[in-house]
Amino acid sequence: MVRGGRPLYGTAQVPAAKNSVLPLLAASLLCGGPVRLRGVPRLSDVEGCMALLRGVGCAAAWDGGDVVVAGRAACCRLPAAETARMRASVLFAAPLLGRLGRAETALPGGCNIGARPVDWHLGALERMGARVEQAGDRLILTAPAGLRGACIRLQGPSVGATETVLLAGCAAHGPTRLQGAAREPEIVDLARFLNACGGCVRGAGSAEIVIEGGRPLHGAAFAPMPDRICASTLACAAASARGWVTVAGCAPGLYAPVLDALEAAGCQVLRGTDSATVGCAGRLRGVGRLVTGGYPGLATDAAPLVAAALLTAAGQTVVEDRVFEARFGCAAGFAAMGARVRTGAAGRELWLPGDGRPLHGAAVAAGDLRGGAALVVAALAARGQSRIAGCGYIDRGYPALEAMLARLGARIRREMPPGPAD
Ligand code: UD1
Repeated sequence: MVRGGRPLYGTAQVPAAKNSVLPLLAASLLCGGPVRLRGVPRLSDVEGCMALLRGVGCAAAWDGGDVVVAGRAACCRLPAAETARMRASVLFAAPLLGRLGRAETALPGGCNIGARPVDWHLGALERMGARVEQAGDRLILTAPAGLRGACIRLQGPSVGATETVLLAGCAAHGPTRLQGAAREPEIVDLARFLNACGGCVRGAGSAEIVIEGGRPLHGAAFAPMPDRICASTLACAAASARGWVTVAGCAPGLYAPVLDALEAAGCQVLRGTDSATVGCAGRLRGVGRLVTGGYPGLATDAAPLVAAALLTAAGQTVVEDRVFEARFGCAAGFAAMGARVRTGAAGRELWLPGDGRPLHGAAVAAGDLRGGAALVVAALAARGQSRIAGCGYIDRGYPALEAMLARLGARIRREMPPGPAD
């Protein structure tokens, strides 16, 4: 429940990145010793990945704010319910395959933002010697003689497929050369972790990555990078609600396109080394066309959040997502709040009204994680009360978003206790 119209003031601390923690939990399957991930946010997707680890025989437990993973995987079958619920479950296949010579999983689920196939993951594993069988939605991967290093060119810069190759490459015999890799900072974080455990991954953050396989990995204590999408959410919330908010613990360069767009819209943006302050008092203006892309471009995950912040701007803004075909499912919620948005290019573009009209509160429903957060961001600017259903989606990626915003002065509360994604 959000009662909009109150400006936000204060400092918000950015938690560790979900999109780094999930692959790190998958990578812990490769390690011979215990792994401690420091300062992990309590997210339903993190709990889901811990359940996957336990399902294959590892111990995975909270120790205060840290997650500790210990023990070796003994079972090659990932629990079906968790695998089907989360896209990131596909990352657990490569390390299991590398370790045990077999991995059984289900086609991964995830947010409703597009088709999200895993063919590039599976194609890469096949090039490394795996055999892939599909029976209904079950996937059985085998490599009885182990994985072998290979030269792989991805068809597109997929974050997940790049991470699969990093994980498989560390477990494989011989070197792997990956071309056309995604360059997201979470991939650099995964490479840093693998190297801290004794692996050898070079070139992460560029389009070509080389992995020396076959090195035994030990455990490590590791602090995952900050969540640049959560930082983007807080910055967009400040722009939407107005006010003056410092987003602390995340280098502004990690989400520069979001800050640049807010600045172009008329916000004041002060960039520090490890923080950014976003101030907004008056009316915002449209910023023309924004297009998402791989890092360092505008993150697809941030597209609905920036759109939400600019719903009341005067002057045209079009946000185009080139990564997923159904990114703007939140448009119906924006419209229910009175924004005359329209979608174009078969749902890949969102045209904002640009009429400078205020929003009003409404009952809306989240249909995916970032779209759900975008509805919250929009509701902060709306007159009157909004009710946002489907908060289970939001809990996949934010550790109590409502508490984070309430500490900044937002009138927001949760009616139901946190639960699994509905
Ligand atoms: C990751 C992020 C997600 C983010 C996305 C893009 C995690 C846990 N999730 O998702 O928040 O929105 O990157 O930055 O890190 N594709 C294929 N075949 C494949 C793999 C991908 O066609 O085998 C396509 C997808 O359909 C999509 C594009 O590649 O159009 C990019 O997807 P990808 O980068 O793989 O996204 P994820 O890794 O799933």
